[in-house]
Amino acid sequence: MKTRAGAILSSIRIDRGQDRKISVQLYMGLRDIILSGGLKGGERLPATRTLAGELGVSRTTALDAVSRLISEGLLESHIGAGTFVSHTMTGRVRVKPETATSREAPKPRLSSSTLLACQMFAERRRLPHKSQAFVTALPALGLFPMAQWARLSARHLRSDRDAVMGYGNPFGLSRLRAAIAAHLNASRGIQCEPEQIFIVGGAQQAFSLIGGMLLDQGEKVWFENPGAIGARNAFISQGAELVPVAVDDEGIVVEDGLAKAPDFRLAFVTPSHQQPLSKVLSLSRRLALLDAADQADAFVVEDDYDGDFYFGDQPLPTLKSIDTHDRVIYVGTFSKTLFPSLRLGFLVAPVSMVDAMSSIFSSALSGVPTWPQAVVADFIDEGHFSTHIRTMRQHYKKRHEILHKYATQLAGHMHLQKASAGFHTVGYFLDQARDEDQFIKAAHAAGLTLSGIGRYCLTPIDRKGVVIGYGAASESEIRHGMDVMAQLFA
Ligand SMILES: Cc1ncc(COP(=O)(O)O)c(C=O)c1O
Repeated sequence: MKTRAGAILSSIRIDRGQDRKISVQLYMGLRDIILSGGLKGGERLPATRTLAGELGVSRTTALDAVSRLISEGLLESHIGAGTFVSHTMTGRVRVKPETATSREAPKPRLSSSTLLACQMFAERRRLPHKSQAFVTALPALGLFPMAQWARLSARHLRSDRDAVMGYGNPFGLSRLRAAIAAHLNASRGIQCEPEQIFIVGGAQQAFSLIGGMLLDQGEKVWFENPGAIGARNAFISQGAELVPVAVDDEGIVVEDGLAKAPDFRLAFVTPSHQQPLSKVLSLSRRLALLDAADQADAFVVEDDYDGDFYFGDQPLPTLKSIDTHDRVIYVGTFSKTLFPSLRLGFLVAPVSMVDAMSSIFSSALSGVPTWPQAVVADFIDEGHFSTHIRTMRQHYKKRHEILHKYATQLAGHMHLQKASAGFHTVGYFLDQARDEDQFIKAAHAAGLTLSGIGRYCLTPIDRKGVVIGYGAASESEIRHGMDVMAQLFA
């Protein structure tokens, strides 16, 4: 750990049983840390008095070791300022003969579900998450009201230390749970008690948690095909059997799910804005899905990741708001409405599941950081959240129009799907013989981030194309991105 008083060097071992003098042991210990890059060029050493005290040696011994390193040029002493690692050491780190990557490390014994999951995770590459065309999943960070956020954060960091720094409520901050309950009621038609709301470290944690709570090895999960990659990987790593269920213009095809796995345990859906095909689940399908879950004694995960940014006509009711069988676990995230590095999300448990959830959260999880929750609670209560959502709805609507305006040049090559929520959509290749991977590689080479629909598929589908994120891109970046795609098609 580095401090202004100098790094803590407790890794140096002094062995009084050795023949070697203690000052030499200390000299060698310090030299090793410097040569292996543990202390960088220009970094301050603790005062010899501190060093001696922390390592249990006399000050004279510490002075001996330090003087020797100064005379060898590894350390420099500046009168009145202290002792520093010589600047000549910058960038001169000793190359270790064997590093973890240079030799074949013995593999640990893993659980069978993890072994299977590692085999099934086809792709380990993460897409770049820079604000540019056509990155998906990233909101327009430049439009976030940072001044208000900073003001609220500062207020909380100055408030009662027990509240800010102590262990928080494992279920989440009560004020935040109440604020979310009110928001969900007003904005998504969901009537729930704050006790049904559990705060998590992003929607992704909710998926892992739900999988862990409900799925035994090999149990079946209806999964939209194509569908959300993060949730898919969470359930795979729980040892579940994922059943690819077709998606058409009305969203998940419930009949297909029933034909393939009537005995499903869980269904995962993105009803407000299907990930990635951008369709909205029709009302009749919503009702059919809820009935199917009830018949099978199954649960439905409703991932409403970007439903707040609805810019179509009247949005359809959320599944949770019409769930008369108490079957829906609603998952929300602040990654899109606020920003992803916050790592805050929430789930709304069915009433029947509150006790089990409470037990898991209080005994095995211990919750997420408290003060960001307090900031978000104030952000909602003071009205900044609704204002921000309204502004961003308009922004994404506009970006969506701009995207379609510049896409006209791709007519004949690509059909751009109209979306009514969120900030990504898909473009289908009109020539279905075109290779998605080749197109995407060429796009990357031209500085454009795209991903193929195939990346989201559990089993291949008969439509090819790309997923296009437009939320974080400026108008000129969108135009440029469309120009690049036009050249690639040509
Ligand atoms: C379908 C879907 N659900 C949820 C999330 C949000 O996940 P998290 O809250 O863990 O950032 C994303 C992020 O891109 C997503 O694509």
